[in-house]
Parts: sequence; structure tokens; C-alpha cells
Amino acid sequence: MDSRLSARVVEEIDKGILILDYGSQYTQLIARGVRELKVFSEILPPPEDAEAIKALGPKGIILSGGPASVYDPGAPDVPSGLLDLGIPILGICYGMHLIAKESPGGEIRRGKRREYGGASLEIVRARGVFHGFEPGSEIPVWMSHGDLIERLPEGFEVIARTENTEAAAIYHPGKHLVGVQFHPEVAHTPRGKEILANFLFDVCRCRPEWTMKGFIQSSLIAIREEIGDHGAICGLSGGVDSFVSATLVREAIGDRLTCIFVDNGLLRKGEAASLREIFRQHLGAKPIMVDARDEFLRTLRGVVDPEEKRRRIGHLFIDVFGREARKLKDVEYLVQGTLYPDVIESTSVHGPSSTIKTHHNVGGLPKELPFKVHEPLRWLFKDEVRELGRELGLPDVVIGRHPFPGPGLAVRVLGEVTADRLDRLREADAIFIEEVHKAGHYEEIWQAFAVLLPVHSVGVMGDKRTYENVVALRAVTSRDGMTADWYSFPPDFLGKVSRRIINEVDGVNRVVYDISSKPPSTIEWE
Ligand code: XMP
Repeated sequence: MDSRLSARVVEEIDKGILILDYGSQYTQLIARGVRELKVFSEILPPPEDAEAIKALGPKGIILSGGPASVYDPGAPDVPSGLLDLGIPILGICYGMHLIAKESPGGEIRRGKRREYGGASLEIVRARGVFHGFEPGSEIPVWMSHGDLIERLPEGFEVIARTENTEAAAIYHPGKHLVGVQFHPEVAHTPRGKEILANFLFDVCRCRPEWTMKGFIQSSLIAIREEIGDHGAICGLSGGVDSFVSATLVREAIGDRLTCIFVDNGLLRKGEAASLREIFRQHLGAKPIMVDARDEFLRTLRGVVDPEEKRRRIGHLFIDVFGREARKLKDVEYLVQGTLYPDVIESTSVHGPSSTIKTHHNVGGLPKELPFKVHEPLRWLFKDEVRELGRELGLPDVVIGRHPFPGPGLAVRVLGEVTADRLDRLREADAIFIEEVHKAGHYEEIWQAFAVLLPVHSVGVMGDKRTYENVVALRAVTSRDGMTADWYSFPPDFLGKVSRRIINEVDGVNRVVYDISSKPPSTIEWE
């Protein structure tokens, strides 16, 4: 079985749900949906045989969807014997086809065309995952599949259908096996949460016991066990993840944790100073503050390529951090704020997927450093980290903060990064964010920021022609940064911000608002 299965997972999974990942883009949403219902869940690639799963003894198993067709050569399969373990299983889309194909009498056929998008699902029987639903009623669901069940396997009954799909949900009451052709885990299936809850609480008999308080308690024990009497260090970036990691570990081992904050000069206006104050208040012992602003500016001189900027910033960060860390004595562990999406991205059936870019590890620390890595947040999603932070008593100014990229303003000053251009961007960004706060938009937005473009535009100020910089404003809503929509500000608001920036920031004569969604654009411009 997967070597990253820690003692914690082994301990918790017998109360929770094991999710086998067949490569669906929605697998993380399944895990999150289960956790939101207060049941522990863990995603793993499908193992070869079922014995390993039996040993873990989960209360239930979910087989995710996936891009393959079950009869494709090399298509991933269920571990042999899985359906006979007596553990309840929910198969979603591809997962349902696997259940049907592996059960006696079941047969799958390739659909004539892919069914993709919204569909209306008719509840045929209020059983299994439809407990409490009205038979004969219709609910909207999200479909994404090519294959269909041609012949129902023995012992199964159809519990829901759609116009195009006779067996849109199937159930084997004796074996507690459920298959659904649609995706209950996505927001486009509005009653998906009830369907998941029925699987967890009716079919699997889970109890909603997984809470943040419980997570903190077991984390403190796990951290003390692992780090023991050794010392640890943690790099603070100013972001939520590293701050929450540091707070949790400090709670467990006290002053044996030393925090290091590297000021790379790529932060927003006034941020270094305010972070210093926040760290002082909430992390007790003073973090080591390293002023490396000049070094970062030097390393970025003349660089315009975004990936090259990231590479250089990443390398220099490692040098500076390593330099400071090596001055400390008795440090064995390095604490990092890696989150669950990064962990599962790197172990999915298809290997690291392209949805999360490699550059997101910038700011992460290198294998070359002579420390063991401890990642206290590796089970959590971003919104869970915020909840954890709140539970640990961290203030909203830190918890509710918009995410900020590791390479900071270097990827928002398009083209060459200079002290002047950074200052100009900082001023424009501060005005934008101040207005966003004042107008009460901040909490609704995932990220809002200004970008300094590498072009000049013609303008007129007084009687004079100007030829100056353009600032773009970006604000998006998102759940996890993987997809995003542009935020719809009232026109008056945009007008006010534009006026203020052009009047107050030297050298800017034009402001534009970015109305692209991700995909196909990204959140950052570089
Ligand atoms: P994109 O621009 O890829 O960004 O849509 C998605 C999320 O990731 C952040 N981001 C980064 N974070 N290092 C980071 O630590 C990076 O190099 C980086 N690039 C983008 C971005 O701000 C957004 O939250």
C-alpha cells in the first residue's frame, strides 16, 4: 500500500471513507464533500489487491470517476476481491462502470455520444443514496460520461434514471454497493450533498465526528511524537498556510520552534511591517527577520521571463533561508505548510496533473537542506486551514487574507522588476485594496490585486500629452484557485478606483479591468 500512509490515516480511516482515485478532475471535491459532512476521508491511487484495503478497514469506499473507458486497454481496474470485502462502496461514473463490469452479469456499452452537462434525474426508488427523496420526482444532476450500463448485474436494482440513461443509479442492497452515473460531488448537482450524506450515514453507518477540534488534538500528539525533543524551523511567508503551520507546531513544542521570515522586497505596501507586528503578537518568541530586499532586486535585474523570475527567486530564497537556518543549533525538522491538494496531485493515478503548476512550489524548501520535513497541514484543504486557524485563535486579518503567490509582486510587475516599478505597483495595489475593503467586497473575493503592465499608453493631463504606465486590476472569485471567475464590480466602484490611481500614483495614466476567467486564463498574469 501507499508508503505515505501515515499512522494518522491508519488510525482515522477505520471511522472514515477511502476514496480510490481513477483520475477524475473532481476527486478532491469528493474528499472535501465527505469532510464537510464531518467524516474523515483519504484519497489513494487504487492498489493492486484488496487485502491492503481490508487491513485499513474503512467504513466505506468511493470509486471516483475517471477519463478512461472500462474496456480500454490498460484502463485502471478495481483491486481484485474489492466488491466482496463487505465494505459499502459508492462508484461514481467510471467507478460505477467498474462496479457493474466486475459484478456477475454486468455489461457496459460505449454510448453513441458523450453526455456532458446538466440532466434531469428521475428518482425511481427512494433507497440507498436516495433515502428521503420522493419517488417519481426529478432533480438536476451533472453528467459527464461516454459509457452506459448495458446489462444490470445480478442483485442490483435501478434506483434512478434519466431520459438518455436507463440505469443512472444502481443499488445492491445486500452488498451495500451503489453506483451513480452523475457527479454528486459538484455544485451543479444541488442535492449532491444529501446524496453523499445518505451514502455516509445510511449505507456506511459513519458518524459525523471528524472536527477541527479533534484534528488539533490529534495533531498536537502526532507533532510531539514525531519531533520529540528536537528543534524545528519554519519559514514564514506572510501567507495563511505557513502561519497556521507555525502556530500549530508552536502549540505542540513551544520555543523549540524557530520561525524565519525573509523579507524579499516583493511584498505589498506596508506588509513587512504589519507582519512583524502580527508575528510578535501571535507567535510569542520573535521570529528571525531577514532583510534580503537588495539581494532579490539584484537577482531579478534584467529578467523578464516569468519562469526565470520564479526560478531565481526560488533559488535565492533557499540560499537566504539556508544561511539563517544553519546558524541555529539542534534543528532537526523543517515545518512546511504543504496542503492536501499538492500531496494528492503528486500521487494521482496519472502522476502529477497539469492543473496545479510546478511553480506553486516556489517558496517551498529544498531537499538539499539537512532537515526532515514535517507537514502538519498535509491533510487539509485551504478552507479547512482557515477554519483551523480560527480555531487556534488567529485573527481575521491573517485568516481571511487573500492568497499571495510565493514570488510576490515580481509576477505582477510584468517585464523587468525594479525598485521604482515595484513602488508604483505597490501604491496602485494599496489604493485598489483599500477601496475593495471600504466597499465591502473583500470577503466575497478570492484574490484582488493590481498588475503593472510592461507597456506605455498615450494620455492627456492638463494640456500635456503623456506617455505613461498602464495598471490592470484583477479580482476573482474561486473555491480553490483551480478555476476562477472575474468579479463583477459596480461600474462606479471601478471608476472611483481608476480615478484615484491615475491621480495619486505617479507615472500611471490608464487603468484597465481584467474580465477573463480561469480557464483559459490564469489568476496571475505571469
Ligand atoms: P494561477 O495564476 O496559476 O494561480 O491561476 C493560482 C493560484 O496560485 C497562486 N500562484 C502562486 N503561488 N507561487 C505560489 O506560491 C507561485 O509561483 C504562484 N503562481 C500563482 C496564485 O496567486 C493563485 O492563488
